[in-house]
Amino acid sequence: MADWDLLLTDAHIATMRRGAANYGAIEDGAIAIAGGSIAWVGESARMPNRTAARTRSLAGQWLTPALIDCHTHLVFGGDRSAEFEQRLHGASYEGIARAGGGILSTVRATRAASADELFDSARVRLGMLARDGVATVEIKSGYGLDLDNEMKMLQVARRLGDASDLTVRTSLLAAHTVPPEFTTNADAYIALVCDDLIPAVAKHGLADAVDAYCETIAFNTEQVSRVFAAAKSSGLPVKLHADQLSDSGGAELAARFAALSADHLEYASNSGVQAMGKAGTAAVLLPGAFLTLQETQQPPIDELRRLDVPIAIASDCNPGTSPLCSVREAMALACRLFRLTPEECLAGATREAALALGLDGDRGTLEVGKRADVAIWDIMHPRELSYWLGIRPLAGLLIAGLDVSLN
Ligand code: NIG
Ligand code: FE
Repeated sequence: MADWDLLLTDAHIATMRRGAANYGAIEDGAIAIAGGSIAWVGESARMPNRTAARTRSLAGQWLTPALIDCHTHLVFGGDRSAEFEQRLHGASYEGIARAGGGILSTVRATRAASADELFDSARVRLGMLARDGVATVEIKSGYGLDLDNEMKMLQVARRLGDASDLTVRTSLLAAHTVPPEFTTNADAYIALVCDDLIPAVAKHGLADAVDAYCETIAFNTEQVSRVFAAAKSSGLPVKLHADQLSDSGGAELAARFAALSADHLEYASNSGVQAMGKAGTAAVLLPGAFLTLQETQQPPIDELRRLDVPIAIASDCNPGTSPLCSVREAMALACRLFRLTPEECLAGATREAALALGLDGDRGTLEVGKRADVAIWDIMHPRELSYWLGIRPLAGLLIAGLDVSLN
């Protein structure tokens, strides 16, 4: 029997190893895969003398860790192109939301859709993410806002994971906005989320984390605290849509509950970022939403960098604020809109995104022992992954060492 299942040779490798300079790059390298994991990685000239069942020469293509999209709302009914148009005629996101549109219009469409309809439409979007290099994707609920419909969304997300080679991680986002049945009593809805939805979802193993939206048009810090306390009692980690439209104290709150991540963060205060740094909470930046909402307030990039807060980048794929189905294009946007470097963006969609999902022990870099989730690119340098717009440089995708069909 051969020592290795697969040997990839004649490649350049951006390992994205933490602490390494210059993409952790290895020119003229090789990766050996055994049992779905990376068994060896390094310069070809230093390769140990072992046997491989299969060898594949990559003729100078680049390998990176497969991309990880750590924040999406991939499962939803309907679309919101009409609101997109209304905003371009002068309406605001908050104004549309307060008038019963926005997230609530997707709630109506999602409640009306069958599980099969939701599955079919989300599967198309999942395929698009994979064709741009994604092997792991997080999917939130949050357009059901009652027990049956939140469970329906999470079951669809789990089914998507079962039916594809990609890893799907799910987050319960029942505290996304106040549902119509509770318009005058948000606290009663929060009680339902804490007492019924979180325990039920935890019992059925439907969620890997609990998320919430802390904002003037959604829930305040006190309400989110109750949700997070309930999540912790059910043994689920938390994450937060924080400080997207205003400084709502979201970053501090996320840090107080040792959240995996605080996401958006355009209006986060310096003290919030400091608290995240101390708590080890990752920042997830979402340039697709920033662009679509024509936001002008930059997230606190310098403070995040100064305090070494891990910065992840995600698509935020959703019908309202980010109809974007590519984390690679999110990287390209983050360079242009936030002036992140291409290396920060690639780290943000691999190593730091793994951290934001609590999966950093297992994936996100090309190192011995990690899962062999590898993207193969037709490029001359990894900076090009943040450079091109509208083209697909992906040449191949391996998940746990196996080729994924990209048709
Ligand atoms: O990440 N900010 C809240 N949630 C989503 C938007 C969802 C929607 O508008 O449907 C976001 O931007
Ligand atoms: Fe979101």
